[in-house]
Amino acid sequence: MNPTPLLEVHDIYAGYQVDLDILRGVSLDVQSGEIVCVIGPNGAGKSTVFKALYGFVPVREGSVLFGGQDITNIRPQEALKAGITIVPQLRSVFPQMTVRENLELGMYLEPNQTRVNERIRYIFELFPRLAERAKQNAGTMSGGEQRMLEIGRALMWEPQLMLMDEPSAGLAPLITKNIFESVRRLNEEIGLTVLMIEQNARQGLEISHRGYVLELGQNSYAGTGRELLANPEVRRAFLGG
Ligand SMILES: Nc1ncnc2c1ncn2[C@@H]1O[C@H](COP(=O)(O)OP(=O)(O)O)[C@@H](O)[C@H]1O
Ligand SMILES: [Mg+2]
Repeated sequence: MNPTPLLEVHDIYAGYQVDLDILRGVSLDVQSGEIVCVIGPNGAGKSTVFKALYGFVPVREGSVLFGGQDITNIRPQEALKAGITIVPQLRSVFPQMTVRENLELGMYLEPNQTRVNERIRYIFELFPRLAERAKQNAGTMSGGEQRMLEIGRALMWEPQLMLMDEPSAGLAPLITKNIFESVRRLNEEIGLTVLMIEQNARQGLEISHRGYVLELGQNSYAGTGRELLANPEVRRAFLGG
């Protein structure tokens, strides 16, 4: 039997307006040490799942458990304290601040500067490219480097779970490959648990242990990354044949 999942989402209903549910019964779980990918067409509600988990959108029904604790409708800062960190879909680095300053912001809740410096050293070991650019303004870096910085920043606060909304958004295919490779490496080397939302279904599933397909705010398919990649209906609908 599987151990208790790190994250459990039970049949949630959520939306932006009181009378309009965008998510109408979404369930998923993530085991510690897994990469799990949610795929689905544009407008399916993938980003809404991400926002509902982090308290940006109210959950009206159903529940979210993290480490067995009920965290339904948790506030973003509480989610961070609980060990959940996010890499949002839209660019979120502060362009006029240096790479190092952006990393420090990832740990703004930490009063101990020595601890912050230790974490920055650690992130620089994981991503030597960021170390080379420590003093450079983040806005002058390439899209892929900025995405790497966002991942580095998300790792500052030693998260138990990293939520990523379309890490490949706006990146060229080769850069996307690098970013996915970094996620896979972090999972293998430091056991980072990741819940990723991806429009880029094939590449997302290729690095994922398991995946879920979301359509019209509901679950449609679920399986291991391999099963979904091999499923004829999923292939036809989401993987281009
Ligand atoms: N801020 C918002 N206010 C109202 N409706 C929204 C908002 N953001 C997204 N939606 C709607 O929610 C639905 C799902 O959107 P989203 O979760 O962003 O889909 P996906 O990420 O799968 O492309 C869409 O119909 C979209 O128009
Ligand atoms: Mg989205």
